[in-house]
Amino acid sequence: MTSASTTPEISGAAHTDPLQLIDVDHVRFYVGNAKQAAFFYAQTFGFEVTQIADLTTGSRDTARYLLTQGNIRFILETPLHVDHPINDELVKFGDGVKDVAFNVHDSEKAYERAIANGGESAYEPRTISDATGTVTMSGVKAYGRAVHSFVSRSGGYGLTELKQGGLFSPEFKPFDFLMNAYNREHPCGLKFVDHCVGNVEEGRMNHWVQWYENVLEFSMFKHFDDADISTEYSALMSKVMASGNHLIKMPINEPAEGKKKSQILEYLEWHGMTPGVQHLALRTDDELASVKELRRRGVDFLALPDTYYEAVWNRVDSVLRSHGHEPVKEDHERVKELGILVDADDEGYLLQLFTKPLQDRPTLFFEIISRRGSQSFGKGNFKALFEALENEQDRRGNL
Ligand code: FE2
Repeated sequence: MTSASTTPEISGAAHTDPLQLIDVDHVRFYVGNAKQAAFFYAQTFGFEVTQIADLTTGSRDTARYLLTQGNIRFILETPLHVDHPINDELVKFGDGVKDVAFNVHDSEKAYERAIANGGESAYEPRTISDATGTVTMSGVKAYGRAVHSFVSRSGGYGLTELKQGGLFSPEFKPFDFLMNAYNREHPCGLKFVDHCVGNVEEGRMNHWVQWYENVLEFSMFKHFDDADISTEYSALMSKVMASGNHLIKMPINEPAEGKKKSQILEYLEWHGMTPGVQHLALRTDDELASVKELRRRGVDFLALPDTYYEAVWNRVDSVLRSHGHEPVKEDHERVKELGILVDADDEGYLLQLFTKPLQDRPTLFFEIISRRGSQSFGKGNFKALFEALENEQDRRGNL
């Protein structure tokens, strides 16, 4: 019996396409103190802390907290012993994303296919089961310290069950966190991971583009930014890879020569000169409501130059008009008050806003994004953003 035969989401395609990704299963962070980090993400971003695996549940090596919001699942993991290998990564990189894990029909088959495609093993398939069901996980090494796990689930641990509050795996127990009821009453409205951006070393972007094509069988997304983000401010090159079903977009940045130190280079310098996840974009249906609530909770967003709103409406509305789309429907004054960015392309527009780094090192941050037709990434905002980012870099003495 394979796990496929007991997975309700199974389709015939799984047998011929083991790398067909069903969903982002979870994003795993390595953090120095998961108990405290869980409180931060609950307070500032409105996540519910719903499950735990720690000493009290028999987990002797690491403590793990499951945080959920919409279809977003974060695992915050912290090592419990001095000789645990996660410690080395925490010293080198600080808190950050280790693993963007994909839900697949059959973890073992996906792993074998990725390895046959030239991928390097992060860890071999391991299965844990109990009377409730089975979870199989395996992983391949991506850029730098990042890993992609393949997760297949069956029985009571199926993805559908997990989304409805079922347990993450046999190692986890429900956790009654004091802020969960409050967060349900005051939602931040975050729905799913829209995209996940990686920073890689200079000259290595195309290598990793090919890695996603070859190993994970991704393809170049139609709206890629091909080395053309080159104002005097930019110093960034980016290409967007997408899974076969466009479930997940993985833009890859590399630093480029610019007048001033690139934000990508700043990231690498504070990340042990090792590639890693730069930001996770979290999708909302209502950018204004989400940003308003996140600001109320104390999320520290990137501030834009005042001049941004003098030009943005003409720029965006003329693009929308030229492609026969309605103008931006959100109240312009409220967009400005909340400091939200707007961009448009041939398919529509998007609203987006970036947080400052989520830890003391200038590394990982979040983007809060809402799409009204546009499937791109806010290229029109790059110049304004780079100015804002450079102001922050300057404040940190990193320019
Ligand atoms: Fe982004």
